[in-house]
Amino acid sequence: ENIGTVVYENSTVASKAVAKEIADLIRVTQAQKKACILGLATGSTPKGLYAELVRLHKEEGLSFKNVISFNLDEYYPMEPNSINSYVRFMKEQLFNHVDILPENYNVPDGTLSKEEIADYCDSYEAKIEALGGFDLQILGIGGNGHIGFNESGSLQNSKTRLVALDHITRVAASSDFSGLENTPRTAITLGVKKIMEAKRVILMAWGEGKSNIIKASTEGEVTSRVPASYLQEHNNATFVLDKEAASKL
Ligand code: GLP
Repeated sequence: ENIGTVVYENSTVASKAVAKEIADLIRVTQAQKKACILGLATGSTPKGLYAELVRLHKEEGLSFKNVISFNLDEYYPMEPNSINSYVRFMKEQLFNHVDILPENYNVPDGTLSKEEIADYCDSYEAKIEALGGFDLQILGIGGNGHIGFNESGSLQNSKTRLVALDHITRVAASSDFSGLENTPRTAITLGVKKIMEAKRVILMAWGEGKSNIIKASTEGEVTSRVPASYLQEHNNATFVLDKEAASKL
């Protein structure tokens, strides 16, 4: 109900608008001599956003020195240098091209042993909490309504944890992994609870293929079947859409 939807002509214009909001937030926190705590997402959706942030850094002097970021998720197991790792994706799309300090970005570690994961997830959340939570959480959305890798059935108070990926999610990722048999079955994801605690949430979605799940998430019932629908209960969440993703609203 509280959810706002903003529709742009295309994803390029939309990505620039989101980048502008992030740049404004970074500059405000800099003026206050505070850190800017960002929750970041991977996938094809935020690529244009990261490209625009890189441009703002290179051409307009936007500094990321006060930014501390936490990514939503990582496949498990996953080596950081692997072609499909989310830490590699983030370096290639953003971190290597701006002045964020290497000690200030965090991506869940896909190299841990199974026994280490629970403690690691608790400490990932504790680190976010110690910083006062997210000023802004950026999200994409899976075709099944997942946010991060919080698949259908994830509870609103779910914690950061190891999850089994849905078959449909693995099929969507399988081309990156050259086949379903090579696609990871599990991932580490930030829980829904930390996402919901963010002061501001922006979920971005582009294209006709996302239109049904965008309708279900924004106008359907709030249900664990569609974790993105939980955002209807957030007091400052906006869905930023292109015309195609908004076409069923
Ligand atoms: C993956 C990621 C999600 C992302 C989703 C959608 O499952 N873990 O964070 O939102 O894919 O991907 P895309 O943006 O490529 O449509």
